[in-house]
Amino acid sequence: MSDNTPGGFFAYFNWLLNPFHGLETTEVYDLIGTTALTEHRLYLNLGYWRDADTIDEASEALALLVAERGGMAAGDVVLDCGYGFGDQDILWATIMKPEKIIGLNITRSQVERARMHVADAGLGNMIDLREGSATAMPIADESIDLVVSLESAFHYRSREDFFREAYRVLRPGGRLVTADIVPTKHAGNPFRRMEQWISWSLVAGKFNIPQENYYLIPSYTSKLLSAGFVGIDIKSIRDDVYRPLHEYLSRDQTFVRKLPPVARMLAKSALSQSAERVYAGLDYILSYAEKPEKSG
Ligand SMILES: C[S@@+](CC[C@H](N)C(=O)[O-])C[C@H]1O[C@@H](n2cnc3c(N)ncnc32)[C@H](O)[C@@H]1O
Repeated sequence: MSDNTPGGFFAYFNWLLNPFHGLETTEVYDLIGTTALTEHRLYLNLGYWRDADTIDEASEALALLVAERGGMAAGDVVLDCGYGFGDQDILWATIMKPEKIIGLNITRSQVERARMHVADAGLGNMIDLREGSATAMPIADESIDLVVSLESAFHYRSREDFFREAYRVLRPGGRLVTADIVPTKHAGNPFRRMEQWISWSLVAGKFNIPQENYYLIPSYTSKLLSAGFVGIDIKSIRDDVYRPLHEYLSRDQTFVRKLPPVARMLAKSALSQSAERVYAGLDYILSYAEKPEKSG
């Protein structure tokens, strides 16, 4: 829902247009509230568009891609870091039927709403949504089969701390899967490089992505290795994320119309440009890693 009060207008104005006014991650999500991209659910991800026609389908498809990559199945105890409003957990509990899903999220307003969704779905005995950080998990050592993080790990301070914590809580042989945003490889062409810099800086600035998380896929692999993971596989899925999302938002104005005025103006300006330019600096990855069977 867009906040059209003067207070809401200035909060958005400050966030989006005042270069001297940064917001903490939880403040960003409190401000966005339930203005999700999706129409029927409250997903906050950009979606996986290979076989999707709408943002609701694409957001669910991305959640399913992460779960399938991690082999989520009956008997698994799953830890979901950065669960937003919990729609993904309800989807996984219904389709993959793991034994249990524990969630960690630092944004209290989302935690409260997500818990209501879970209770309404009658899944309170299967899904345990907690307020807590992916970088300091209130979770026992070696108690989890699968750690997932759906479009959230770029926020963590730092992502490396999250890798270390994920390793600690996974049982030997456990799996870690992220759908995550990293920068694109620097282009040789200086104009393209400038586009990449602007694209990354705008998103990182507005969504509070720490500088320490600014690294490419090869470094992502090295940091997973340093945390102790093996069997690492990282693929860019950016062609199935940004361009189709951009095209969808250009032809279906439902999301743009629900934005407050300042955000709507910026969204229209972005949509009038090519996807290549707007997302020049942003890669989108699906990463998989395993904790060795015998640790130590
Ligand atoms: C882009 S949203 C994605 C939400 C959800 N996964 C989805 O796909 O709809 C990022 C989420 O990460 C959460 N988050 C950010 N930093 C976090 C941290 N350190 N620990 C746990 N959650 C965090 C935010 O509160 C938000 O729910």
